[in-house]
Amino acid sequence: MSVIKVAILGFGTVGEGVYRTIQSHAQELEGVLGKRVEVAAVLIRNKHKKRNINEDVLVTADFNEILSLPQLDVIVEAIVNKEPTFTFLKQAIQRGCHIITANKEMFAHHGNELLELAKHHNVSVGYEATVAGGIPVIQTLRQLLNVNRVHHVQGILNGTSNFILTEMREKKQSFVDALSLAQAKGFAEADPTNDVEGFDAFYKTMILSRIAFGEEPNWEDVEREGITSITSELIEAAERLGLRFKHIASISKKGDQIKASVRPVLVGKSHPFYSIEGVENAVNVYTDLVGSITLQGPGAGMFPTASAAIEDLVYVCQNKLTKKYFTKTPAIHLRDKKEHEDELWIIQGLTKDYNNPLITWITQSSAETAIIRTNTELIKQLISEQNIKCCFQILGEFEIESNDKEVTLAAI
Ligand code: NDP
Ligand code: HSE
Repeated sequence: MSVIKVAILGFGTVGEGVYRTIQSHAQELEGVLGKRVEVAAVLIRNKHKKRNINEDVLVTADFNEILSLPQLDVIVEAIVNKEPTFTFLKQAIQRGCHIITANKEMFAHHGNELLELAKHHNVSVGYEATVAGGIPVIQTLRQLLNVNRVHHVQGILNGTSNFILTEMREKKQSFVDALSLAQAKGFAEADPTNDVEGFDAFYKTMILSRIAFGEEPNWEDVEREGITSITSELIEAAERLGLRFKHIASISKKGDQIKASVRPVLVGKSHPFYSIEGVENAVNVYTDLVGSITLQGPGAGMFPTASAAIEDLVYVCQNKLTKKYFTKTPAIHLRDKKEHEDELWIIQGLTKDYNNPLITWITQSSAETAIIRTNTELIKQLISEQNIKCCFQILGEFEIESNDKEVTLAAI
């Protein structure tokens, strides 16, 4: 019986999950691949940490020792930062290994170069684990929607942010406590700044854009905002209106331009992301043929992420993944009447004596927090000219009812 030899780079949440899954699902892997899958080596940084790894596995902090193994078929990479990861993976490809990565920061920056190099060396690259944890969104877009033209993609792409927002709302936890819990559960990045400031979701959005549209926007043109400005008071104010904060990435193609944003917004009950809670992620894809599809599932964590990497392992061993290349897709035009219309916003720091005919005041529930209806351009102007503390768009259509005491928003 021939064997597939695998090296795992990193033995943290993801690396250990992959190692344990290769042991626990050995039978399934052998069944589908017709070969036994064996972990030959694990790369770590700290040689003194205790790890539960079989004695016959090479555990090393020196990548060259791994590259020198007599047989090496697949490298699963689950370490952090762009370097030395990119260099390691280039060397692995040059040696003729298939590679699988969970590292979205590295892949957003260097994915195209790795895919080119892999094509040249006739090996495959799997990167399902880079976006939305355990949800098979990349395979779904690449394998199942080959002919459909994508109009837009929206996603909750950071498990840590969604987890924090849920904990703050449901359990009245502070931001700091909720983040600590996300770290303890292995959801957060080594440096959680990437999670809470929207960089992690931004990298995932760029990877998704390449798959959905064959290209990505200029990174500098993408509005990126994290969840750090969302206070418990804002969450409660939103809840009273039947709204929830969600950190949402959006990508669409209009004409020749890809537009993308990654930011917190408010959604009502009728939005498909309203009930996406905790570490769950969701991706909604709107295409010309099938219409709207929403995939949802765990967005981070040991075994969900291992699931994405292990499914990639099967695909790369069948050398299927580099066969398809990103192709630029034409924009599709929907009858998008509401595109230039005013939107609803929750805003803090704009007082009602600010007069502008382009603003309709819906409410001013406290001296500080108000709901207004206006357009995006004016919002940008207000943010640059007025003393605005924060401002969040409310997605969706609502019927607004008000009496002397309160305003209610009923989703249409
Ligand atoms: P952890 O911090 O839990 O683990 C990182 C591992 O990589 C550790 O074992 C560490 O070694 C090792 N490592 C880091 N740098 C080096 C280096 N330069 N050389 C050798 N080994 C190194 O990270 P995660 O497992 O959470 O994440 C790994 C990757 O997967 C990241 O890129 C992350 O963005 C991505 N990811 C994470 C998910 C999650 O749910 N956590 C989900 C999807 C993707 P040592 O143990 O010695 O410190
Ligand atoms: N830190 C990431 C998250 C891990 O919370 O979504 C999954 O990519």
